[in-house]
Amino acid sequence: MIFGRVKPLDAILATAEKKSLHRSLGAVQLTLLGVGAIIGTGIFVLTAAAAQKAGPGMMWSFVIAGAVCAVAALCYSELASMVPVSGSAYTYTYSVVGELLAWMVGWALILEYAVAASAVSVGWSGYFMGLVKSLTGFELPTMLQAGPTWSMNGFIPSADFTTGLINVPAICVALAVTWLLMIGTKESATVNAVLVAIKVAALTMFVILAMPVLDREHFAPFAPNGWFGPAGTTGLGIVGAAASIFFAYVGFDAVSTAAEETKNPQRNVPIGLIGSLAICTIFYLLVAAAAIGAMGAQPTALGVQPGTAEFARECAALAAQGSEPLVCSNEALAHVLRSINYTRAGDLIGLAANLALPSVILMMLFGQTRIFFVMARDGLLPEKLASVHPKWKTPHVVTLITGIFVAIAAALLPVGQLADISNSGTLFAFLMVSIAVLALRIKDPSRHRPFRTPFVWVVAPVAAFGCVFLFWNLPIDAKMVLPVWGVVGLIIYFLYGYRRSHVGRGIVEVHEDDPDAPPPPVPPVPSIG
Ligand code: ALA
Repeated sequence: MIFGRVKPLDAILATAEKKSLHRSLGAVQLTLLGVGAIIGTGIFVLTAAAAQKAGPGMMWSFVIAGAVCAVAALCYSELASMVPVSGSAYTYTYSVVGELLAWMVGWALILEYAVAASAVSVGWSGYFMGLVKSLTGFELPTMLQAGPTWSMNGFIPSADFTTGLINVPAICVALAVTWLLMIGTKESATVNAVLVAIKVAALTMFVILAMPVLDREHFAPFAPNGWFGPAGTTGLGIVGAAASIFFAYVGFDAVSTAAEETKNPQRNVPIGLIGSLAICTIFYLLVAAAAIGAMGAQPTALGVQPGTAEFARECAALAAQGSEPLVCSNEALAHVLRSINYTRAGDLIGLAANLALPSVILMMLFGQTRIFFVMARDGLLPEKLASVHPKWKTPHVVTLITGIFVAIAAALLPVGQLADISNSGTLFAFLMVSIAVLALRIKDPSRHRPFRTPFVWVVAPVAAFGCVFLFWNLPIDAKMVLPVWGVVGLIIYFLYGYRRSHVGRGIVEVHEDDPDAPPPPVPPVPSIG
C-alpha cells in the first residue's frame, strides 16, 4: 500500500539531532533573511503584468497574495521546526503523508523552483536589455530578446514567432549561474547582506522619486477589470493579478528552513515570517502606488492577458508611437523613472536589478538541485543524478541538467507565464503542507513541536483554501500545466520510483544530512556567516 510508505520521522529527527544546533538567530536577523529571499522579479518586473490584469486595483492583489502567504507560512514553520532537515515540503510530506504524495510534492516543487529560476532569468534579461539600450543605444534584434508568444488550441500549444524567437540574455544568465553552482559557489554572508541592501535601497529610491509626482487621476478607474475579470476570461481582475503576483512573495520558506538555527523559535519564527512578509507587503504597496500614481497603470485593452500575441501587438503599436505604457514594459520600475525624466535613476534601478536578481536565480536553482538530490538518494530518481563531483563537491550532474532545462524554458517563454506556472507548483506544495500539519497533529499529537502554528484548526484550513483559491484564479494555461505535469509524474513514479524506492524496499536511511550533501537552499545569514 503506497500510502503506507512513510519515511520514518524518528530516523529523520535522530539524524537531525546529531547535528550540533547553533541557535543564534534572533527575530531581526530572521526578518532580514526573509526580506532578502523574497524581493526579486515579482516587484521589479511583474508589476507590469499585474497592472495589465487589474489596473490600479493591483494594490489589493498584493494584499491578498501576502495574506495567503502569511497563513501558509505559519503552517510551513511548524513542520520546518519539527523536521528541520532540508528537502523542504518534500521531506515533510514523506514523513507525514507518505511516499506517493511526497513524490507528487517533489514533482510539483520542480515547477516551483526550476520554473521560478527561468522566470527570474527572463526578468533579468528585460532589465539588462533596457540598461544596455539606455547607456549605449545598442539593441539586440527583437527576435533575440524574447521567446515566441504562446496560445492554446485546445490542448495543443501553438507559438507565434512574429514577436520573438529566443531570449539570448536569459539563456546566458541561467547558464552562468548554473556554472557558478557547479563549481561550488555559495553566496557569502557579506555578498548576501550587500544584495539585500541594494534591493531595499533601489525600491526606497523609487518610492522617494516617484511619489511626489503622484497624480490622483491615475487611480481612476481603480479596478477596470473588476475582481475576477470580464466574463469568459480567466486569470484577470484583482484576484487574477493576486494569483500571479503571489510570485513576488515566494522565497519566505527560507525563514521556515532557518527555524532550527533560531533562538526561541516559538516567538521568533512567526515574527520573522510575518515581519518579512509585512515589510515586503508595505514596500510592494508603496512601490505599486508610486508607479500607478507617477505613470498610470491602466490595461492597454480590457480583458487581454499579458504575454499573449494580442497583447504583444497592442504594445508594439504603442511603442511605435513612442508611448509605451507601464503594462508593456519589461523593466517596469526603470521605465517609470525614465518616463518622469529620471533617466539616470532609471539606469540605477536597472543596475540594482541586474546585480541582485542573479542571487535569486542562484537560490532557486540551489533549492531545485537539493530536492532532486534528496529524491535521487531516496531511490525515487536514478542515483546517478545524486553523484557528487570529486573536486567541486557539488551534485554537478543534476545541476547541469537542471540548468539546461531552466535555460531552455527561459529562452522560449515570457516571464509572466513562467511565474504563473511556478505559482501553480508552489500553491500545490503549500496546500500539501497545510494538510500535513493537520494530519500530523492528529497522528502524532504529543510529539515535541519547537514551533506550533497558532490557531492551527483555523489557520491551516484558511491556508489550504487560500492556495486553492489562488490556483483557481490563475490563467487557464498555467492551471492546466499542473495536472498534465502531475500525470507525467505519476507515470514516472509507477514506472521507476515505485519499484526502486528505498523505503519501499525496506531500506531505512536518511540522507538529508550526509556529509557530502550539498548545502540547503538557505543563504548564509549575515551576522552568523
Ligand atoms: N519572490 C521572488 C521574486 O519575486 C521569487 O523574484
